[in-house]
This record gives sequence, C-alpha cells and structure tokens, in this order.
Amino acid sequence: MAKQFFIPRGTSDILPSEIPFWQALENTARTICRLYGYQEIRTPIFEETELFARSMGQTSDVVQKQMLRVLAGPRDFQETLQNSEDSLAGVLRPEGTAAIVRSYIENDFDKRESLSKLFYMGAMFRGERPQKGRLRQFHQIGVEAIGPSSSSPYLDADVIALSVNLLKACGLTNFKLKINTLGTLENKKAFYELLKRKLQPQLTELCEDCQQRFERNVLRILDCKNEKCRTIVRQTSFGRDWLTQDSQNYFNAVKQALDMLNIVFEDDPYLVRGLDYYTHTVFEISDSSLGSQDALGAGGRYNNLVSELGGPQVDAVGFALGMERILLAQQGKNKPCDSFIDVFIIAMDAQYTKNAFLLLQEVRRCNLSADMSYQAGSLKSQMRLANKLSARFVMILGEDEIKNQEVTLKNMQNGMQEKIALNSIREKLDKLKIER
Ligand code: HAM
Repeated sequence: MAKQFFIPRGTSDILPSEIPFWQALENTARTICRLYGYQEIRTPIFEETELFARSMGQTSDVVQKQMLRVLAGPRDFQETLQNSEDSLAGVLRPEGTAAIVRSYIENDFDKRESLSKLFYMGAMFRGERPQKGRLRQFHQIGVEAIGPSSSSPYLDADVIALSVNLLKACGLTNFKLKINTLGTLENKKAFYELLKRKLQPQLTELCEDCQQRFERNVLRILDCKNEKCRTIVRQTSFGRDWLTQDSQNYFNAVKQALDMLNIVFEDDPYLVRGLDYYTHTVFEISDSSLGSQDALGAGGRYNNLVSELGGPQVDAVGFALGMERILLAQQGKNKPCDSFIDVFIIAMDAQYTKNAFLLLQEVRRCNLSADMSYQAGSLKSQMRLANKLSARFVMILGEDEIKNQEVTLKNMQNGMQEKIALNSIREKLDKLKIER
C-alpha cells in the first residue's frame, strides 16, 4: 500500500468549512486598518537569518530556539543538509516587524513620506512545542507606523485603539489590555542595572533559565512563566525612578490619550515583552478564555530598530494580533451568515443536463455565483446539495420547463416558487443581484 502522508506537527489545514470565518476576519481587519489610514504591504515568507537575530534579540526565545531554517544551494539536498553553512538561505519569518522595517529601509519610504502606516496579514513560523493556540505555522494581522513624524503619544494611543477596536469588531469583549513603558535605550540600561541589584540576593532561587537570563538579558526574568520566579519578581518592587522625566511624561500622555478614547487598560509595571526592540510603550492584550496561551496580540514602540537595521533614525510603533487565537476566542460566536452561492441549477433528468450547463454559464455572466450537480441525480439529492451550499435560489429544469422555454425559480429562504420565461431570465437575474 502507498505511504500515507500527514500534516507537519504544529500546522493546520484551513478547511473550506472554516474559510468563511477567516474571510470575515480578514475583511474586518482590512476595513478597520483602512479606517485608520493603513495601507497593505506584503513581504516574503523567508528573510536573512540575521535580520531577526539582530532585531528580536540574540537572547530572545524566538531567536534562540524557534527559528525555522530555509536550506537552499547548488548541492544536492543531502549535501545541503550537511553543509548548512554556505547553503543557508535564511529563515522562515517568525514575525512581521523586522521584515517590514527591512522593506521600509530598502524602498526608501522615509524619502517619500514622513509617516508610513502599513498593515500586513500572513503566515509566521516559529519552531515552538505545539499546543492549543500555539502553532509552528500561525497567522498574524499587524500594523507598523514608521517615520520621522511617528513620535507622538497620540500615535501610540491610536495604534492601541486600532487593535482594541479590531477585536471589538470581531465580536470579542472579554479581553484585557495591559500597558507599560520601558523608556529610552538609556532608561532600559538603567532598568537592567536596577533589576540585577534587586534580584541578585535571590539569584539561586530562580529557575535555571532565569539564572542564565540574569547574565544574558535580565529583563526576560520578568517574563518567566515559572511560578517561583513569578512570585520572586512580583514581591520585588522596581518603581519607575529609573525612567527620565521625559519618558515618564511621554507614558503619562499615552495613558491620558487612551482615557480620552475610553480605552480601558491596566498599567502593569511588570510587562516587558519577549522581544528586544521595544522602547517606551509596550502593550499586550489577553483573553483568559484561551487558557495558557492567552495573548491575543501585543505590540509597542521601537524607536531604534530602523537605524539599528541600517536605516535612518526614525521612530516607529506597531502591534500584531494572532489570527488563530482571535478565531479561537470567537468560538463560532460570529458565524458569517452570507450565502455561499446565489443560484443552484437542477436538471430533473440527465437529458436536460446540457440545458442546465448552459444556464449555469448565463447566470455566472450576470455576476451571480452559480453551481449545479454535473451528474443529474434525483430532485431530493440535488436539493440536498443546494442546501449544503446554502444556495439563495434554485432553478429547476424539467420536462415542462423545457417544453415551455422557462425555468422554475425557488427562493430557498421563503420557499416561494415562480416560473420565469427564458427570454426574460437576464432581467430577473439582474433583480436578484440588486436584492443580494
Ligand atoms: P508577538 O508577541 O511575538 O509579537 O506575537 C504577537 C501575537 O502573535 C501573539 O500575541 C499571539 O497572538 C500570536 N502568536 C505568536 N506566536 C504564536 C504561535 N506560536 N502560535 C499562535 N499564535 C502566535 C510580535 O510578533 C511583534 N512583531 C508584534 C509587534 C508589531 N510589535 C511591534 N509591531
């Protein structure tokens, strides 16, 4: 027997029955992003490895453990695997931000506009241990506002409001927004020093990972999920004195702007995010109904990333939402009710299949979606098929209809039937289109 193949672990097929939910989410995202003045951008699915290593941080979990390599080269595949050094083409993108920044720099966006507002949707890849809500191939909706005139607390608030309103437009209400500030790069350095001083006495009580984090990137200890580490962190108060006055003022202005928009948030001084590029505002949106992987999305400001990746010194802010997690949180609440098809055509006998086939083309020429059973079965089985496709109308062609040059049109919502002369069918179809 031939070998059967299975889907790679941590990925999923999005089956036709799920597509309406994805499309509804994509449509909502496009509408809301445009409402806020963002334009769509699409970048490749793989990029140079270093792009992510330098932006997300060498010590981040994603870069250390989760990058999925793309191998390519002139050698044959076995050799390529053994000689990965010179044949490494890059990695599958684990996130969108660094790729958008790479494109922003490469395409000289800063020379054309003082603020580039870009949004994206697509597959991201992280070699994580799969579980509910945590995949190796997942999808994000993200926005990035980049440019010389992006430095305003109103923009931070607007970006946060966009993420919140997008989730509300998806029918979600039970999520929580947490925000914090990390200040400038210099403030962050002062914060590292303070954390080290405060955590040093309990160093040996921290988990093994955190003991390493203490040396390599102490900020990550605040993100550790280990209960003991969490308790130690929560019992330690860091205050916000390590922030300069300007940074404190900036954060206060962001919070005031959120208040003005009636966006409810929690100011959480322990929120740091797992990626290195953030400065000033960081935020996270979670939904407890999701279980352990409860982050619906996250984002923040990254004022140094563009210059660190070789571009001009311009500020930026953005976020990304996990699409699978939004759909999980919706749990079918937002069932899209659009009919899948406008007209289903039924031939009552195999000899009328040809007439039905021609009528099918005529309906489609009128810009109405149409389908038929290509092998005429019983009326009952064809009606079942029409129902399965959620057809709005059924057109029936039987002996009488063919003789009288007409079709029977059945409205599947109210059950009403009428006969339509074939020579007035176009007129009728145009009317159906208007009523759609
Ligand atoms: P992130 O927190 O790594 O941020 O990911 C954002 C969201 O993507 C998460 O909150 C989650 O909903 C979803 N996500 C992440 N990993 C997985 C996974 N393995 N399976 C399913 N969903 C996942 C970023 O990616 C930043 N680029 C956000 C950003 C944009 N910051 C500024 N601009």
